[in-house]
Amino acid sequence: MKLKWIHYGSQYVDEEDINEVLGVLRSDFLSSGPKIKEFEERILEHTGAQYCAAVANGTAALHLAVKALDIDKRKTGITSPITFIASANTFIYNSLKPDFADIDEKTYCMDPVELGKRINNNTAVIIPVHFAGQPCDMEAIRKVSPKNVYIIEDAAHAIGSKYENGKPVGCCCYSDMTIFSFHPVKTITTGEGGAITTNDKALYEKLVMLRNHGLTKDQDKFKVQGSTFNVGPWYYEMQELGYNYRITDIQAALGLGQLRKLERFIKRRREIISFYNEAFKDLEWLTTPYERPGVFGALHLYVIKIDFDRIGKTRTQVMTELKEKAIGTQVHYIPVHLQPYYREHFGFKEGDYPKAEQYYRQCLSIPLYPKMTDEDINRVINAIKNL
Ligand SMILES: Cc1ncc(COP(=O)(O)O)c(C=O)c1O
Repeated sequence: MKLKWIHYGSQYVDEEDINEVLGVLRSDFLSSGPKIKEFEERILEHTGAQYCAAVANGTAALHLAVKALDIDKRKTGITSPITFIASANTFIYNSLKPDFADIDEKTYCMDPVELGKRINNNTAVIIPVHFAGQPCDMEAIRKVSPKNVYIIEDAAHAIGSKYENGKPVGCCCYSDMTIFSFHPVKTITTGEGGAITTNDKALYEKLVMLRNHGLTKDQDKFKVQGSTFNVGPWYYEMQELGYNYRITDIQAALGLGQLRKLERFIKRRREIISFYNEAFKDLEWLTTPYERPGVFGALHLYVIKIDFDRIGKTRTQVMTELKEKAIGTQVHYIPVHLQPYYREHFGFKEGDYPKAEQYYRQCLSIPLYPKMTDEDINRVINAIKNL
């Protein structure tokens, strides 16, 4: 009998979501309609921030967030080496120099002490990444960062997570902006999609303009005033160099259905995590994820560390063995500074971030998503134990 394939991550879409999307397809607006505002408002309810701009994807959110800050091109941005490349690429999109602060060996998030060592007069912006959904130690990161340095939280993995102070990630109590991604493997999905939250009205207005070509249709903001040649009901002004990073109403409708299930998704994810933690706790060659006391992680990934020498297998052999049992795994992430582009253009090399590199040698993400059945979970547990 052919075994059902268990992905490392997968979306959960139900009839409610499908009906939401169908409603938009039957309506007058496929894009730039009312669902986007509604989706943004629901994100604000979940995060407690004051403003939200939904955009085409998480990468666009990062691009626009840094762009909106208007940072001097000679400056530097710092993120974690253990993240998806997009968190660092945003610095390059905005002509800043990318830099990294090594990770904490337990949480795999940016270590505030390491960050302190990298900050200098050139540092303009820091992007901590709530890796796998676990909130970074934002209080320490804020404390170690000079007041004039901006902070953008990369919460692509962390919608629904909470800091030690009980506040939701995305409320921006430690940062200027927070970005989210709604890619299908993330906690909620819009197919592709992203959002930026902030408590700064001026930043929000800029983000909204930048996601739509840098255009404004707001008469009060027009730079050209009182010209009969140039001003009328058709008129709009391009005041910044923006992009088409708009999200559609179709996506926003899916997001609305998904947000209604957020608590349920998180509950199931945490349930699966506790099954895994219990099953693996006595395996000496395996390290289960660590959750910092006091934080609440709406965990997106379950990353184990394997002592491959001890079990006498390489990671490739382990991934192949699991694949033969119809179990998908993934590596999150190849340290960004070791990507050829970063080595060639910015001179990073092996040994620059030893804790990230050591983590990379051992990490493996195993399946975690709400649609997993108890049978799927047991299959994964048995396959891992039998390694
Ligand atoms: C940490 C992190 N930041 C940013 C992104 C980019 O998001 P998107 O894929 O929606 O562009 C991702 C997506 O994988 C991510 O994992």
